[in-house]
Amino acid sequence: MTVIANKCPNYKVTVVDISQARIDAWNSDKLPIFEPGLKERVLTARGKNLFFSTDIDRAIDDAEIIFVSVNTPTKMFGEGEGKAVDLQFIEQTARRIKENSKSNKIVVEKSTLPVRAAEALATILHSGKNSVEFEILSNPEFMAEGTGIRDMETPDRILIGSKDTPSGIAARDVLIDIYLHWVPKERLITTNLWSSELSKLVANAFLAQRISSINTIASLCEVTEADVTEVSRAIGMDSRIGSKFLNAGPGFGGSCFRKDILNLVYLCEYYQLNEVAAFWEQVVSVNDYQMERYVRRILQAMFNTLVGKKLTVFGFAFKPDTGDTRDAPAIFICKRLLEEKADLKITDPYALDNARKDLHDSEEGVEFIEDPYQAVEGAHGIALITEWSLYKDLDYQKIFDKMEKPAFIFDGRNHLDHQALYEIGFNVYPVGKPALSHL
Ligand code: UDX
Repeated sequence: MTVIANKCPNYKVTVVDISQARIDAWNSDKLPIFEPGLKERVLTARGKNLFFSTDIDRAIDDAEIIFVSVNTPTKMFGEGEGKAVDLQFIEQTARRIKENSKSNKIVVEKSTLPVRAAEALATILHSGKNSVEFEILSNPEFMAEGTGIRDMETPDRILIGSKDTPSGIAARDVLIDIYLHWVPKERLITTNLWSSELSKLVANAFLAQRISSINTIASLCEVTEADVTEVSRAIGMDSRIGSKFLNAGPGFGGSCFRKDILNLVYLCEYYQLNEVAAFWEQVVSVNDYQMERYVRRILQAMFNTLVGKKLTVFGFAFKPDTGDTRDAPAIFICKRLLEEKADLKITDPYALDNARKDLHDSEEGVEFIEDPYQAVEGAHGIALITEWSLYKDLDYQKIFDKMEKPAFIFDGRNHLDHQALYEIGFNVYPVGKPALSHL
């Protein structure tokens, strides 16, 4: 919405939320999320054509277009528990829109939804006695965290799904007009509503599938002395495969991948496409296996016991350049390391507040330390889970000198110079490559 406000000064954008604290933060100097480039853009537009408010009912009544961006978490109860999407927030929002609308509106699905959700939305909006007309569009968001501004300002594509009726097409054109302020025409794709809804799930499923695929190959590399980085490079140069999203790691995280794949799995099961469901579910199972494998590698290398050993965790965010830790592999990995009775010192430039919340059940044996040099004091090993660029530039001789010997480093992202670390004296365990060990 900030980018829309920036690019379309002739539009007034109002962002509403039920949380007063969150809206207050959006109206303050300390925005509630960290995203490179966002703050400057909020400051340019805020108070001019970008407003943050909790007056939801009034904003609904005023608006011609409503982007529904409420959360659609995995349902944790009843039918579809653990897989299906919990649609209660979408439904509550639809009812509120209906109750407060005195004029016709375009309602845009921005939240990621199951296929055919627009149908349910339309039924709720048009139920009862109300002469107001609603046209529903699907406009899924493909931006990734950390690059949100760039993805929004120069998108690969903008997808808009609509009904193929005169009013559906008219509504679609209203949304197209907004994007045409900065997006080249050939990057705007239009489809029917269901293809648009499904494409969002499929895009995330394909991306996650690539990561699980390369992670399975990493495990094979570790036992065959092949090198996963070399394999990725070799296959990625095939233009049919492409080079992106082929980095082996400790497993994917983030608020979308697991949730969206499980949603896809649930949809397939619902339509009794059990083999299709099993295929996609395996992407998630392999991810769980990859996180567990990372822990086992640490355990085996450190003589099969971590009791009382000090491990420093480099990076807790689910990826660099964000403080977000939702479904971060670090959560699972740290909990498992604590189960093995290791003492953890966790360091991360932006995610320590969230890390504290994520590990609040298992606080014993965990310390959160901003300065990586302080965090490695007396450590037996370092587990690098998030590839923050600052970890490349640390003085590893100084770090080695502060650690217990033998000193181990488990580079879960193949982020560091392994040969240089080995020469300093570290026992180095990369992902998908043979270890460089002095033992
Ligand atoms: C993802 C999609 O990329 C985006 O299009 C969608 O709108 C939202 O979900 P995001 O979750 O922000 O975006 O992060 P992404 O960059 O996709 O990374 C997800 C996870 O995969 C991270 O944990 C990352 O470390 C991991 N990853 C990514 C790998 O392990 N290897 C790779 O090669 C790429």
